[in-house]
Amino acid sequence: MATLIIEGGRQLRGEVTASGSKNGALALMAATLLVEGEVVIHNLPRIRDVLTMVEMLRCLGAKPRLSDDGTLVVDASEIITNEAPSHLVSKMRASFQVLGPLLARTGSARVGIPGGCNIGQRPIDLHIKGLTALGATVLNDGGIVEAESSELHGARIYLDFPSAGATAQIMMAATLILGSTTIENAASEPEIQDVARLLNKCGARIQGAGSDTIHIEGVKRLHGAMHDNIPDRIEVGTLALAALNTGGDIFIRGAVSEHCNAVLLKMQEVGARVIEETDGIHVSPLRRPVLAVDLVTLPYPGFPTDLQQPMGAVLATAAGSSVITEKVYEGRFRYLGELERMGAHTRVEGQTAVIRGVTRLHAAHVTAYDLRAGAAMAIAALGAEGTTVISDVEHIRRGYENFEQKLNSLGATVRTGDTPLEEGSSCLE
Ligand code: UD1
Repeated sequence: MATLIIEGGRQLRGEVTASGSKNGALALMAATLLVEGEVVIHNLPRIRDVLTMVEMLRCLGAKPRLSDDGTLVVDASEIITNEAPSHLVSKMRASFQVLGPLLARTGSARVGIPGGCNIGQRPIDLHIKGLTALGATVLNDGGIVEAESSELHGARIYLDFPSAGATAQIMMAATLILGSTTIENAASEPEIQDVARLLNKCGARIQGAGSDTIHIEGVKRLHGAMHDNIPDRIEVGTLALAALNTGGDIFIRGAVSEHCNAVLLKMQEVGARVIEETDGIHVSPLRRPVLAVDLVTLPYPGFPTDLQQPMGAVLATAAGSSVITEKVYEGRFRYLGELERMGAHTRVEGQTAVIRGVTRLHAAHVTAYDLRAGAAMAIAALGAEGTTVISDVEHIRRGYENFEQKLNSLGATVRTGDTPLEEGSSCLE
């Protein structure tokens, strides 16, 4: 894995365009397996995870073509196997999302259990509970989830936690099952809403996506359609926090402020000026240093766990002590040890971290333990004194399109370095 070398102390200024949503893209791509006909999706980010999913679709028999402009044309009229290649599932947790669509299309599916990762346990019990309620027999065959049914049926399903992955999985499977399905305590993320929008364009009958109750009236088959992937709210938050941490002033074109409410409001609490415009958002500092703040991560519309680490990087130099409570993934505090190398003062107790703001961070050699930890290290480095080297940047490439190019276009000095000393571990966000 390569390194990123970031010279700190340069303010980010200017305009940058939000890329298409990573998580949205992966869910939309899994959904195309339900469709007999050509689906065209615009605005996919050219990132590692999307390329992995293209490969997955190809292996399953769909005919995906991804152009340089981020348009995917895929025709899954013919599915040639119901078994997801394990080397692709192990690369990326989101590939587990093909289980429900494959089951609904072919009556059976075999997909490897994605396993845990650096951000904590990643159980799949809610996915299994949902598909079982829909009439599937689901077994664990030596680490491979095998789902099978000769007759799937609608059901009322309550999710103990509004899991985005389980909601999408069940919603997709229920689309092609004759009968009515209701998902209670469903996830309401913009990406879930967008999958419902795509499927409805293809002839599905899904109502309520975006609320905590989703109704699906199954249909016999779906037809092709055209769709635009939504902008990446996590990338928007990352860029906004990066600008704030340098005291800069940026406009993020294409950002949908409605998708980022919790983050933008928190940023205002710490002292950012955020102006929501019709075609994007403008972020600049109102005060320096930023103020300390308490923060709890929650399912959407709460503060997203994916931006907890980037926000933590900003709070490292806040005036006062901040308390972060991580309610979604217990393993998302590992980056704080890396921030400490840069001079931060942090303490973790269970699901809570206290960050006592210092005047300035200094450069160090740090590791991107996972995708968003990598983003957090970059944000910290941009505001720090000296030149920071971040290793394991492949994690960042999995989820951020043109990361260093975008930062450099805003005035940062970021370049790619040589292969680092140690090998990194994997994260399957
Ligand atoms: C998605 C996002 C990820 C984000 C996360 C939470 C993708 C590709 N990834 O992951 O970036 O951090 O949402 O917003 O879209 N859970 C269970 N049982 C299950 C499934 C989940 O207990 O069967 C728990 C998880 O342990 C976690 C919580 O539910 O505590 C949220 O997980 P979930 O919303 O499913 O996350 P993902 O869809 O995997």
